[in-house]
Amino acid sequence: MRDLDQFATDVLAGLKQPLKKLPSKYFYDETGDKIFQEIMGLDKYYLPRCELEILRERTSDLAAFLPEGPLEIVELGAGDGTKTVHFLENLVTLGRSVNYYPLDISPEVLQTNKSHLVDVAPGIPVHPVAGDYFKTLPSLQTTHHRALLFLGSNIGNYPNDKAVDLLRFLHRYMSTDDVLLVGVDLRKHPKTILDAYNDAQGVTRRFNLNLLTRINRELSADFQVEHFDHYPVYDPVSGIAASYLVCQKAQEVSLLGETFLFRTNELIHTEVSQKYSLPEIDTMAEKSGFRDAHHFTDKRDYFSVSVLLK
Ligand code: AVJ
Repeated sequence: MRDLDQFATDVLAGLKQPLKKLPSKYFYDETGDKIFQEIMGLDKYYLPRCELEILRERTSDLAAFLPEGPLEIVELGAGDGTKTVHFLENLVTLGRSVNYYPLDISPEVLQTNKSHLVDVAPGIPVHPVAGDYFKTLPSLQTTHHRALLFLGSNIGNYPNDKAVDLLRFLHRYMSTDDVLLVGVDLRKHPKTILDAYNDAQGVTRRFNLNLLTRINRELSADFQVEHFDHYPVYDPVSGIAASYLVCQKAQEVSLLGETFLFRTNELIHTEVSQKYSLPEIDTMAEKSGFRDAHHFTDKRDYFSVSVLLK
């Protein structure tokens, strides 16, 4: 199926649910990528700085769990790779030979990734692979041991059972002694988590609303975007941060020949961001077939880069 057809199918299916929903993976069009970069720079959005601290300052501890010999570093959802490059450079300084395979849905972002890496670490060979990693990972041919990277707390976008399925899928494409490094946002004070998705500057709000703007543009819909509001919640019992759009003025939206009614105060669910405790990560690792897990956290214990052993 063409990408646009898939987008249309997913949007139509989501809007036909009793609680309307839209898949968060569609946040990342060109504008969405830019707004997400802004989010990563927000003081309250602590995630990238915590993860970078671990990748930079704990490289040698992490490296102790990596297979010996030349390494193929395969990163799923690599994005522009700005955090990963520090990790790769440190590995090279530790005497490791690395080849880097950034996998991402967006060919544009991979272009940025490669030129950035070539600029700051010209000695590291980069082999970008564009496409959906469920399709590109199974056909990726490498000759040496692999370290798979799944960073940025992207795993949090999957509900827990789907996250386990994803880890199982990754496990299947690893050979013995390969490792998986997964970046996970940890449970912490609920206010700290909610604040990360509710910035006063309204950047996250723009990010959430951009999904409707994208649907208007790409699927010729007519959402009155200005009548929707951003509403994030965090439930510390389940560990789920969720984002909603709230319809502030009733409207009929036409989309690909169909009409959808939005009542005043009706919600559209747009994102989950699951937070985990370290024991919960252990349980997921075990359920998905890994034999062991080691956790490396930042100074505040906000975030973990967990090493899962096949
Ligand atoms: C990129 C999925 C990790 O869930 O924290 C940031 C996306 N959404 N602010 C997250 C996001 C709103 C982010 N992930």
